[in-house]
This record gives sequence, C-alpha cells and structure tokens, in this order.
Amino acid sequence: MAFRERGRPSSLVAWAAALLLALGVERALALPEVQKQLRSLAEAELLICIQCPGSVQNLSEVALYCKQTPGLMLHARCCLNQKGTILGLDLQNCSLKDPGPHFPQAHTAIIIDLQVNPLKDDLAGTFRGFTQLQTLILPQDVSCPGGINAWDTVTFYTNNQTCQGQRNLCNSTGDPEMCPENGSCEPDGPGLLQCVCADGFHGYKCMRQGSFPLLMFFGILGSTTLSISILLWGTQRRKAKAS
Ligand SMILES: *[C@@H]1O[C@H](CO)[C@@H](O)[C@H](O)[C@H]1NC(C)=O
Ligand SMILES: *[C@@H]1O[C@H](CO)[C@@H](O)[C@H](O)[C@H]1NC(C)=O
Ligand SMILES: *[C@@H]1O[C@H](CO)[C@@H](O)[C@H](O)[C@H]1NC(C)=O
Ligand SMILES: *[C@@H]1O[C@H](CO)[C@@H](O)[C@H](O)[C@H]1NC(C)=O
Ligand SMILES: *[C@@H]1O[C@H](CO)[C@@H](O)[C@H](O)[C@H]1NC(C)=O
Repeated sequence: MAFRERGRPSSLVAWAAALLLALGVERALALPEVQKQLRSLAEAELLICIQCPGSVQNLSEVALYCKQTPGLMLHARCCLNQKGTILGLDLQNCSLKDPGPHFPQAHTAIIIDLQVNPLKDDLAGTFRGFTQLQTLILPQDVSCPGGINAWDTVTFYTNNQTCQGQRNLCNSTGDPEMCPENGSCEPDGPGLLQCVCADGFHGYKCMRQGSFPLLMFFGILGSTTLSISILLWGTQRRKAKAS
C-alpha cells in the first residue's frame, strides 16, 4: 500500500500497526455490537424520518397504509419496508416552509403527507425523481406539483387536498420529437420527464456512441474511497488509543 509514515518507519511502528489491526479484528468479531452499530448507522441515514419530532400520526393515511400492507413498519415519521426503503412519509404539522434538504431521501415513497405546514406554493423540482409517488396530501393552498394534468385526481377538502395517481406524461404529451433519436422518454416525478439514452449512447442528446467508461470511473472512485476509509480508520484508532 502507498502509505508511508512521516519520518523513518521503525519496527516499533510496524509492531504497533499489527497490534492495532489485531485489536480491530477482535472488535469486529463482536458481532451483535457490530450489527447494532450498522443498524443505527442505517437509521441515522434516514434523516428525513427524524427531522421532525414525533412519529407517524395514528389515524393518518400513512399509518393506515403501513398497517394494511404486510411487511412494513413505522420508524419515527416514516413507513419502511424490511430493507429500510422509505415507502411512506408523514410530515404533517411540522412547521415546514419547505420540505428541506433531506427530502430527496424519500424519493421511493408511495404516500406522503405534508398537510398542516406553512409551505410556500412552489414545489416545482421538489419531487424530481419521486416516480413511485401515488398519494400526496398537501395544505389546501399549495398546488399539486406538476399541475392538475400530472395527476389522475386532485380532490379538495376543507383543510387539505390530495393529489392521487401520478400520470406518466411520456404517453400523454405524445411528442416523439421531445427525446432525441437514440434516447427514450422516462417519467421523473410528477409532471417531470427525462430522456434516457439507449444502450451504447451517451452525452448531450445521446449523440455520442460507445459506452461510458463505467468500469474505469467506479474503479477510481472505489480505490479513492477505500484509501480514505483506511486513512480515517487509522487516525480514529490512533486517537482512541491515545485517550
Ligand atoms: C396509537 O395507537 C396505538 C394502538 O394502535 C395506541 O396504543 C396508542 O396509544 C395510540 N397513540 C395515540 C397518540 O393515540
Ligand atoms: C399541530 O401540533 C400542535 C402542537 O403539537 C397541536 O396543538 C395541534 O393540534 C396540531 N394540529 C393539527 C391540525 O394536528
Ligand atoms: C383532510 O381534511 C379533512 C377535513 O377537512 C379530514 O377529514 C381528512 O381526514 C383529511 N384528509 C387526510 C388525507 O388527512
Ligand atoms: C404508455 O404507452 C405504452 C404504449 O405506447 C403503453 O404500453 C403503456 O401502458 C402506457 N403507459 C401509461 C401509463 O399509460
Ligand atoms: C442513432 O443511432 C444510429 C445507429 O444506431 C445512428 O445511425 C444515428 O446517427 C444515431 N442518431 C443520432 C442523432 O445520433
């Protein structure tokens, strides 16, 4: 490995490194603890679920959906499947002016409740990538993202409105010219589309032929990540030993 200690490497350093490595391995073998850490790490990643205090409201549509569908569980403000994917999100009554920076974590959600929030009526772009979303509950004064044509039904109630059934606009716009010759139209959230290049094409308007050098890209990315991880691990170990 291309890491060199500052100054002359001594056998003492090598010995210490071996000891640290051994301690690390021993620690890693304490499986329940590792599993617990992994689980809290996974839950910590779902920041959108805990950014607003409390849990999914008992009688909300999100709670109903989560209880009716087998294999789903509630976690703070979210409804998750067994892999930890967000399928429901209940952020009602959270004093939100906008959904916040963690909102894209919920792009897999099927149902989202944002009612009783002082949201600004400008959710354009907020739901980019939310292709699974089928039910969205909003304060009454906020329009359904993508407009009325992006949904099968929009229903107004006294205190909220629901946007139901996301439409696939790739069909209804009926504009075959919209995507270039070697690309195809795919939905990208309510009222949003994207052009996906056919196999073997990439770049602007899918005009460049030849596959993107993915292997090289991920090869470089992977080895950089690995190096940084090892470096961080090393410094953490040293800090832990010093204290
Ligand atoms: C929510 O429902 C559960 C049972 O389904 C009940 O134990 C709990 O007290 C309820 N919480 C509230 C705040 O109503
Ligand atoms: C919103 O939360 C506040 C404080 O928790 C509560 O008093 C109020 O009744 C809630 N409003 C609705 C509509 O749930
Ligand atoms: C919308 O508000 C009405 C009251 O106007 C309430 O009865 C209904 O449960 C709310 N809908 C949802 C989906 O929470
Ligand atoms: C879109 O059109 C294709 C064929 O043109 C059809 O197979 C597909 O079901 C349509 N999708 C929707 C959501 O209407
Ligand atoms: C699309 O691909 C075909 C070959 O499959 C090629 O002849 C054509 O020039 C491509 N079109 C564009 C706009 O790049």
